[in-house]
Amino acid sequence: MAPVHLLDFSSTIPEARAFDEAVAHLRAGGLLAFPTETVYGLGAHALDEAAVAGIFRAKGRPASNPLIVHVASVEAAQALVTTWPAAAQRLADAFWPGPLTLVLPKASHVPDLVTAGLPAVGIRVPGHPLALALLRQAGVPVAAPSANRYMDVSPTEASHVQRALATSPESILLLDGGACEVGLESTVIDLTGELPRVLRPGGIGIVRLRDCLGEVAELDAQASPGPLPSPGLARRHYAPRAALRLLAQPEELVRVGAACEAQGEVVASIRCGSGDSRPPLHHVLPGEPEGYARLLYATLHALNQTDATIILVQAPPQTAAWSAVQDRLRRAATTL
Ligand code: TXA
Ligand code: MG
Repeated sequence: MAPVHLLDFSSTIPEARAFDEAVAHLRAGGLLAFPTETVYGLGAHALDEAAVAGIFRAKGRPASNPLIVHVASVEAAQALVTTWPAAAQRLADAFWPGPLTLVLPKASHVPDLVTAGLPAVGIRVPGHPLALALLRQAGVPVAAPSANRYMDVSPTEASHVQRALATSPESILLLDGGACEVGLESTVIDLTGELPRVLRPGGIGIVRLRDCLGEVAELDAQASPGPLPSPGLARRHYAPRAALRLLAQPEELVRVGAACEAQGEVVASIRCGSGDSRPPLHHVLPGEPEGYARLLYATLHALNQTDATIILVQAPPQTAAWSAVQDRLRRAATTL
């Protein structure tokens, strides 16, 4: 069997029993890549430690990086934790199913491998109909990081998963559910401290979280000198093959682009809102954050298929609505 075996649901509404093969594979300890509304996940039965170990091998991911557990309902989430604070209920009521991960003290039957030894577990109910139907039929919690190799750009289409994991040591069943709607990972919020704290900006913005909860703290991963409280916040992450440089002014793209070309670089660009789109190297993404987020990773994957050596990115506006996009671009750009 090829490492990635694809089941195509991209243009059909799955019928009852459509997930029989996938569920049997999952329950037997196999790896299952599936679409969520944010990005594709690489899933395994969360309570089966040997199955979860396969995720780390397939991704080449260090065991110090905790996984998000996906469930179909609030009740299934509650079964994985030791406390369910009022804030969790409010957030679940407002945003589940959806792109929000709650970090809560874990129940003892959640394997340490899932949480990378941390006392808390990240949980979410995803909003994608295929993911939800799968989780309902499976009836088990599914641990799933994004279905890319460690540090690479997350997949928002099945073809990205196929390419990324084609040489994986594990065989993987992949459900193709078309392109992801949100396009950036979920927001991760820690509810174990005195104040709810955003560990990773994502699909649900800080303004909506504050409307729901009142005070919410933000983590400034750029500034924090000590160990990162959420290991997935490694500073270089989500990176394409080419070097990526963020430029504040659109005019700089022309000047810096010419200078790079003079040095023999193959220059690609991503502009925001308006400009000249000349694929495969030059792209213009929407001037509003949801549309931009939906297409960003697909654009970086497309550029990975070119011979670009440097990608010049026009920095989007410095406003709260753009913070998840800003965060991913900064991480893709930073080299340590
Ligand atoms: O949208 C998403 O969240 C996607 C889809 C597949 O659900 N998943 C995803 O997983 O992005 P991953 O593993 O690529 O990123 C998980 C993030 C990391 O930043 C990780 O550190 C954080 O969630 N996280 C998970 N469990 C945690 C925990 N117990 N404590 C703190 N952070 C946690
Ligand atoms: Mg990831």
